[in-house]
Amino acid sequence: MTTNRLTFKSNLAQISVPVTSANLGPGFDTFGLALELRDRYAAQILDEAIFDVDVTGEGADEVKKDKNHLVIRSMLRGFEHMGQKPRGIALRALNVTPHSRGLGSSASAIVGGLALSRALVHGGEALMSDDEMISLATQLEGHPDNVAAAVLGGATIAWLENGVGKAVKISVHEKIKALALIPAAGLSTAKARKLLPEMVSHSDAASNAGKAALLVHALSHRPDLLLVATEDRLHQKYRGSAMAKSFELVERFRAAGVAAVISGAGPTVLVLHTSSDTEIEEMVKAAGGGFVAKSLEVSHEGYQQA
Ligand code: HSE
Repeated sequence: MTTNRLTFKSNLAQISVPVTSANLGPGFDTFGLALELRDRYAAQILDEAIFDVDVTGEGADEVKKDKNHLVIRSMLRGFEHMGQKPRGIALRALNVTPHSRGLGSSASAIVGGLALSRALVHGGEALMSDDEMISLATQLEGHPDNVAAAVLGGATIAWLENGVGKAVKISVHEKIKALALIPAAGLSTAKARKLLPEMVSHSDAASNAGKAALLVHALSHRPDLLLVATEDRLHQKYRGSAMAKSFELVERFRAAGVAAVISGAGPTVLVLHTSSDTEIEEMVKAAGGGFVAKSLEVSHEGYQQA
């Protein structure tokens, strides 16, 4: 197809996207943090009308391998935004982000797909800015926090403005690292969102607003304030019954002075810390069985093109 050759690049595009943790305690649907563990995607435009999808790693046996794969759907949305429609796409995905654990696997697929679409169109950078990518990704994901961190990297504050997803990046103190404690069983974000109440008390809302503001300062300048700044009253306790072991671990760690939160919609437990390797080993031991521990650096870059 002639238009295909003129519009689309013929090369293979490769994108990596970091794992992300949302909420960070008080910033429900607002804070995001990118961590250095990356899903990798490679895609090429095909002249034939086929969607050839191959997935290796996390979720490989569960995800759709056709036009309905989330990376393909996101690519098609990206092409549509740029006024293009490819006939077919070949996609290879190497997934390391565990699915349904609150570590942003869907945000990774969405941002990966949008970034691939941009990389495969001549002049794509002018047709889709990072801000537009965040807005498109928010439409696909339904909330902006994970996708913001997957696009911008580091720690992000995301919000909706007239329904449009927007975000800014804030600095993260160089000593802050994360420990993810990942349970064997997952929980869908949709189910976890259904557990939230329509109304919350004024005092709980006020507490979260103050802690979220403090968390910006704790993340950038005062890691010693992370414990108090990660206190949440708006979502974690309401979801506790669906992730009892994780919730109990968060409570136990916090009582011991460790800044533990539920990562995103859970059930992964995320600890923000400045601890030594020996102290991290002690935390992993203290968590007990049932969790896979991953010690992760903050990823100061979001998605990257290879
Ligand atoms: N802010 C979202 C939630 C994150 O807690 O439902 C989902 O990963």
